Amino acid sequence: MDRLIIASNRLPVKINEVEGDFTVEPSAGGLATGLKSYHKKNDSVWIGWPGIDVDDSKDKKKIEKLLSDEHCIPLYMESDLIENYYDGFSNATLWPLFHYFTEYASFKEDYWDAYKKVNEMFAESILKHTKKGDTVWVHDYQLLLVPEMIRKQRPDIRIGFFLHIPFPSYEIIRILPWREEILCGMLGADLIGFHTYDYARHFISSVKRLLGHDIDFNTVSMDGRHVYVDVFPMGIDYEKFERKALEVQSKPIQERSKQHQEIDRFLMGEPNRKLILSIDRLDYTKGIPHRINAFKRFLTDHPEFRGKVSLLMLTVPSREDVEQYQNLKREIEELVGGVNGEFGTLGWNPIIYFYRSLPFDNLIELYSSADIGLLTPLRDGMNLVAKEFIATKAGHKGVLILSEMAGAAKELGEALSVNPFNIKAVSDAIYAALTMDQDDQTNAMHTMQERIKRYDVHKWASDFMDNLEKTSKKQEINQAR
Ligand code: G6P
Repeated sequence: MDRLIIASNRLPVKINEVEGDFTVEPSAGGLATGLKSYHKKNDSVWIGWPGIDVDDSKDKKKIEKLLSDEHCIPLYMESDLIENYYDGFSNATLWPLFHYFTEYASFKEDYWDAYKKVNEMFAESILKHTKKGDTVWVHDYQLLLVPEMIRKQRPDIRIGFFLHIPFPSYEIIRILPWREEILCGMLGADLIGFHTYDYARHFISSVKRLLGHDIDFNTVSMDGRHVYVDVFPMGIDYEKFERKALEVQSKPIQERSKQHQEIDRFLMGEPNRKLILSIDRLDYTKGIPHRINAFKRFLTDHPEFRGKVSLLMLTVPSREDVEQYQNLKREIEELVGGVNGEFGTLGWNPIIYFYRSLPFDNLIELYSSADIGLLTPLRDGMNLVAKEFIATKAGHKGVLILSEMAGAAKELGEALSVNPFNIKAVSDAIYAALTMDQDDQTNAMHTMQERIKRYDVHKWASDFMDNLEKTSKKQEINQAR
């Protein structure tokens, strides 16, 4: 294979402007955090939005230089496009719809027009940077039209597409006024990948019912070519998380960061004090209010644990211009204040709430200190945080409570599985996790670690790439017939 061109809405790094100068910082979210290790290790080029809009050509040059060190190529968007394509069609139409929040989805033609325009801009940039023999890998719901746009101009290019969020059932996708265009856009790829078997099944059934194409198991036949649909549950850079966790834990406490020393002091404050951790982008799909209510229920049902356990919620700012995200932020702040006001004491905060992103080292300290990972999304394509939590549990102790609505639940059967809408069940799971036998913790953790270590992000990407390469051979045989 020659070069790989990766395209996603957001680059793995974003550019910030600080007093007229530019700095690079990692982007948040599963796609960027998962794929960037693969990108770093391989000779790929990544095209995407740098998270900033600049006019000045000198500034553009500076940014391009910073990004070229990361093997990234920026695609700039003006503010009206960001509003209609990013805040609009991507995050106020597709995101809520694909996560079954139909009541949040708005269908505006201006959004759709901007979405088409930006997808065209991406296709153009990809074509400009693609040489003969290169492979293109397009990612996620912001770029669903790109595969077909490339295929129309350059049928010779090998194209892969991966969706990082759920693909909803036919009954949901049929609501979308532009459903056929979206499906045709994706079908421009040679191989379409999903995290779980259910998402792939929903896609195939939608293609069959809405477009009427011939389908044979996981192969769609159209216009004299085949499109392959398969399942690739995304992994993490396991070794990186494991190594850092071991490093953090092996340092004497005085040499650890201020944050880590504070957490340590907090845990020592009461004998057997425990820490429950949740980490997510601030998003309504993550079920944060439900989780707070479940923790409140737990404190009500189990007063013996008051003062002995805290829930540390790291909530990473996200899509702050979209109305639902602003409303949710307020709701969370109120709920956290309510629980802390009702149960807290001078020496104990039931919920420790951070609204910010943290550097990698601090993140690992949180993971390592936590006894329980509480991840309860209402709907989630995968949830790589669950896998990260597991990878940092070097001593094998710790319990993961995981929503059955997360794609990751399919691979992590040893976690305590919960329906996040069932507040009592989540509260019961917290109790079960806090009182779980050490051997049971170790066994479950060890089994999950072995599994996600084997299918890490490198294996995930190379598996996808191998399958994509095979599709070309299959197409050749097919055409020779
Ligand atoms: C999810 C999506 C990604 C997205 C990320 C962060 O993981 O699948 O495509 O990049 O969220 O969201 P943002 O809107 O900040 O890019």
